[in-house]
Amino acid sequence: MTLTVSQLSCTHLSAGYPGQAVLEDLTLNIPAGQITALIGANGSGKSTLLKTLAALQPTQGGSIYLNGRDISRLAPRALARQLALLPQDSNNPEGLSVRELVSLGRFPYRRHFSGLSADDQSVITLSLQQTGLLDLAQTDLGRLSGGQRQRAWIAMALAQQTGLLFLDEPTTYLDIAHQLEVLQLLRQINRDSRVTIVMVLHDLNQAVQFSDQLIALKSGHVYDSGPSYKLLTPELVRAVFGIKAVVLPHPVTGVPVCLPYAPQETVQT
Ligand SMILES: Nc1ncnc2c1ncn2[C@@H]1O[C@H](COP(=O)(O)OP(=O)(O)OP(=O)(O)O)[C@@H](O)[C@H]1O
Ligand SMILES: [Mg+2]
Repeated sequence: MTLTVSQLSCTHLSAGYPGQAVLEDLTLNIPAGQITALIGANGSGKSTLLKTLAALQPTQGGSIYLNGRDISRLAPRALARQLALLPQDSNNPEGLSVRELVSLGRFPYRRHFSGLSADDQSVITLSLQQTGLLDLAQTDLGRLSGGQRQRAWIAMALAQQTGLLFLDEPTTYLDIAHQLEVLQLLRQINRDSRVTIVMVLHDLNQAVQFSDQLIALKSGHVYDSGPSYKLLTPELVRAVFGIKAVVLPHPVTGVPVCLPYAPQETVQT
């Protein structure tokens, strides 16, 4: 699938909930065709930021630009053709097969009351193929493992054919092998289709390994952002999470690895 390579930015963005400002005066750039990982402590505003950038939540100030256009001027259907968001807590629709879930991704392209076109069907098949789900297409979602279900949601987002893909904690509940499988799949999709990806990850080592850029949020502000390999430092980990850590190159890959520690728990010899 070839898509328009999409770039998103915001200037002086403020957002939150009635009576509670969460994000204040945020200015940031999501580079086109890259993977950006959002990191930060619980409650720092990561999900609020994703939802606000996806126009699922109103802004309280500032502007958001998608490929240079103010998103507040885009109709919801037009926006849904350009941006897909997998939320942190997607509930699983009952009694739906994998293919039926993936076909929901075609919703922004359908006319009122019309069925799926041949084009829609081929995009759905391609999305199932990309995520390795062709053999499970007719299986009920309730019968899938957590990792397979996550791939089905990603396939649905791919069927939406957007240049921007937001994922809020896509590896939650998965074992380490399935976490890596999902992250490698996202990297592959990013390389094949140049989809711009923004994802929230709690595992700092995975965030560095699977992103080009990191954005570290602290209490609703951007504490720092930049190339992932450079950004992960003991100072950042202490400032953002309040813990001590060393950062070392991985002995095999050379990618920076964060090792948190509690000083009183050293091994006595
Ligand atoms: N629907 C809501 N109504 C009111 N306040 C909310 C709502 N959702 C989140 N908040 C508040 O906004 C702040 C930021 O929450 P947010 O969910 O964006 O954090 P987060 O960084 O995604 O955290 P986590 O790592 O736990 O998912 C928190 O103080 C939270 O209590
Ligand atoms: Mg969250």
